Amino acid sequence: MKGIILAGGHGTRLYPITLTVSKQLMPVYDKPMIYYPISTLMQTGIKEILIISTPEDLPIFEKLLGNGSHIGCNFSYMSQAEPKGLAHAFIVGEKFIGKDSVVLILGDNIFHGSGLKAKLQECKKPDGGIIFAYPVQDPKRYGVVDFDKKGNAISLQEKPKKPKSNYAIPGIYFYDNNVIRIAKKIKPSKRGELEITDINKRLLKKNKLKVKILDRGTAWLDTGTFNSLMQASQFVQAIQERQGLRIGAIEEVALQMGYITKSDYKKLSKPFKKSGYSKKYD
Ligand code: TTP
Repeated sequence: MKGIILAGGHGTRLYPITLTVSKQLMPVYDKPMIYYPISTLMQTGIKEILIISTPEDLPIFEKLLGNGSHIGCNFSYMSQAEPKGLAHAFIVGEKFIGKDSVVLILGDNIFHGSGLKAKLQECKKPDGGIIFAYPVQDPKRYGVVDFDKKGNAISLQEKPKKPKSNYAIPGIYFYDNNVIRIAKKIKPSKRGELEITDINKRLLKKNKLKVKILDRGTAWLDTGTFNSLMQASQFVQAIQERQGLRIGAIEEVALQMGYITKSDYKKLSKPFKKSGYSKKYD
C-alpha cells in the first residue's frame, strides 16, 4: 500500500498567515504540521509516501523532508496547481500509485490514541474503500456517515441539516486500486472540486464502503482555523509534557517501526539539540 498526503490548498481560513506560508508548514507546538500525517502513515506501516502541494510550496517541503531515506521512507513530490479537490489526488498520483492500493490523508489532520496503530494496520488491504467514523457533538459541520453493525456504510451526507448519525468522517481514506478509475469518472461539484464524497458514494452503491469506528480514546484534530490550530498545539504540548510521550515525531516513529536503528536515531538528533526537540533522543 502507498500513502498520499494532500498538503496544498489555499488555507484561506488562516489568512493572513497562509498568504505566504503553506498551512501544513505551520507549527503545531514543536514541529511542522505535516510531521503528524507523515507519522500516521508510518504507523500504518507505509514507507512510500507522495506529498502533493502547490508549485510554490513544494520545494520547501522537499527541503524540509528530503527523499525520506533518513527515516527509512521514500518520499515523492508532485504539484497541484489549483485545489481541484481531494479526489484529484488520485489523478495527480496515478503513476505513483501504480497497481497498489492507497491511503489518502489530509495534511492538516492529526490523529493520536491508543490502539490507533493497530486499527490503521487493519485497513491495509481494502476491497473497495475503508473510511473512519468519529463521534462528534455537532455532526452538521462535517461529512457524516451512517453504517450497520457489520461496518457497512449505509448513507453519506455532506454538512447535513438533519444528520443521520453523529459520526463524522475524518481525513483519512483507504482504497483499492480502482480508486484511480473512479476518480477519473466523477465530475467536479458545484464548488468546482472533485469530491472524495462522490468516490465514496459510488463505492457505497456497490456495497464496497466499509466503516471503522475511531473510539473516544482516539483524538482527531483538524488544524484549519486559528482556534483549532491553537487547540492542537495545546493538546500536543499537554500530552508530551504530562506523559513524556511525543506525538508526530517522525524520527521516533521510524525507530519504533524498525525503519532505522538506535544509532541512526541519535545521529538525527544532532541539529535539534538547542530547540529541545531532540530531548527524547537520549
Ligand atoms: P480544506 O481545508 O478543504 O482547504 P484549505 O486547506 O485550502 O483551507 P481553507 O478552507 O481555509 O481555504 O483542505 C483540506 C486539506 O486538503 C488541506 O490540508 C489542504 C488539502 N487540499 C489540497 O491539497 N488540495 C485540494 O484540492 C484541496 C481541496 C485540499
